[in-house]
Amino acid sequence: MSKKLTFDSVAEVQAYAAKDADRVIFIVKNGVYDVTEYLPNHPGGPTPLVMAKATDATKAFADADHPDNAVMQMEDYRIGTVKKAATPKPASSAGPAKLLIAVAVVAVAGFFAIKALKK
Ligand code: HEM
Repeated sequence: MSKKLTFDSVAEVQAYAAKDADRVIFIVKNGVYDVTEYLPNHPGGPTPLVMAKATDATKAFADADHPDNAVMQMEDYRIGTVKKAATPKPASSAGPAKLLIAVAVVAVAGFFAIKALKK
């Protein structure tokens, strides 16, 4: 894994990850990581890493509040870089969040509408 790969988009990373479905590959910021060998050693357990498979895990990684040594350790698993600027937001990360917000707004509006009607 000495030669680093360069990807033009998140979709390109996902296509690469899909070719080798047994491996756990994800993105954090502009780095592409293959943590297949790290799974049994991750202090947070293998589950969050497997869940992050083939996604942009930047937010999940940040949410776990990793210490600096974790960030340094990551370099060992870096297989490449992705130029995200050229990428439209992948539906997989933006879609569900937006949908959730939309559902929440409709639910709140519905709640107040029903309350108003009952008066
Ligand atoms: C190569 C990538 C990664 C490395 C080297 C790494 C390393 C670590 C380390 C060292 C810890 C222990 C933190 C501590 O001592 O407080 C940790 C915890 C954790 N990590 Fe990672 N991590 C990686 C990727 C990820 C990703 C992508 C996620 C989520 C999608 C994640 C989720 C977590 C969680 C949930 C914990 C537990 C936090 C807690 O117990 O409070 N990690 N990780």
